[in-house]
Amino acid sequence: MKTYRIAVIGGDGIGPEVIAEGIKALETVARLDGGFQFDFEHFPWGCEYYKQTGKMMPDDGISQLEKFDAIFLGAVGAPGVPDHISLWDLLLKIRKSFDQYINLRPVKLLKGAPQSLKDAAPEDIDMIFVRENTEGEYAGSGSWLFKGKPNEVVIQDGVFSRVGCERVIRYAYELAKAQNKTLTSISKGNALNYSMVFWDQIFKEVGKEYPTVKTNSYLVDAACMFMVKDPKRFEVVVTSNLFGDILTDLGAAIAGGMGLAAGANLNPERRFPSMFEPIHGSAPDIAGQGKANPLATIWSASQMLEFLGHSAWADRLIDCIEEILCEAAVLTPDLGGHATTAEVGDYVVKKLQG
Ligand code: NAD
Ligand code: IPM
Ligand code: MN
Repeated sequence: MKTYRIAVIGGDGIGPEVIAEGIKALETVARLDGGFQFDFEHFPWGCEYYKQTGKMMPDDGISQLEKFDAIFLGAVGAPGVPDHISLWDLLLKIRKSFDQYINLRPVKLLKGAPQSLKDAAPEDIDMIFVRENTEGEYAGSGSWLFKGKPNEVVIQDGVFSRVGCERVIRYAYELAKAQNKTLTSISKGNALNYSMVFWDQIFKEVGKEYPTVKTNSYLVDAACMFMVKDPKRFEVVVTSNLFGDILTDLGAAIAGGMGLAAGANLNPERRFPSMFEPIHGSAPDIAGQGKANPLATIWSASQMLEFLGHSAWADRLIDCIEEILCEAAVLTPDLGGHATTAEVGDYVVKKLQG
């Protein structure tokens, strides 16, 4: 029987709470299938680990993770540890070290999900964001000069390499072509006169290889407006690291909330493990109270199944989420219900069992 080795990093706050439910769903799927199984190995890395050891993960953490088929991550960040340390030394380190240059984030309004746009039908909000995930505004390049002095200066560079832009844009064209959808590039060439002019140029260049794919190109400010006013314009969307981060929280807001927003960090060549995680953070405001919605994490588990080649199970899991939303009997408080995180996870298991 095929065994998938999964590294589990629950992380901080609600991270371990939602991951526990994702694991329940994956284990149920494997049991029902009978042809594969999961071997989960838990890594206690995160802000507690940092408080005890001074590190977010051990020095050889990346090489420990390298042998796994995938990584399942909850969330990172806790009061008391500066966010730029906790995120750079764990989450961003994994994305970069494993060259997970594609961040796939569905913005899809499932049937039964709470609707924040009054005129939008579920079929109007059906996008897939392809976010650049290793460079751009998140390159980590810059300097901090004359710290604490009156002439203090900070510089944060955006790094847009030809290889980095071409590969993410090409991935998005391939996806749009395969799904017979339009492709929209979101950038800001009017103000960012180097990085985004270059991005737009590469979007056009690569597009010559895909004459059948219909394209749009929007400035990021206008894109925000259209996502709210006319979301059906967007199908496959490709954008930079920071814009993708911000736009997908806006996406979550129009597609049922943070509790339903999933993401996959992919190394498409499979030279390194890919990582599956909800897009929300550690939500310290609700941590430890059983209030966290595990459905985003379970959706990410569906993305993992898809990536591992089990698309029928991936679809089945999304159908279960949709059924649960439509019934509205077992939901967490963010979706207007009274159920706990574990009750929702157990209900997904029950639905899977049929
Ligand atoms: P957040 O996503 O943690 O929370 C924003 C709001 O959404 C909060 O009100 C929270 O209660 C709610 N929320 C989030 N996920 C939810 C869920 N599953 N169910 C119900 N409600 C949910 O964002 P934040 O408050 O800006 O950040 C908190 C911490 O998380 C910070 O340390 C931040 O750096 C970190 N962070 C980590 C990740 C990650 O690990 N991928 C992502 C974003 C933020
Ligand atoms: C996300 C998060 C991260 C990001 C942070 C925590 C570094 O907001 O995954 O959306 O900006 O990529
Ligand atoms: Mn984010």
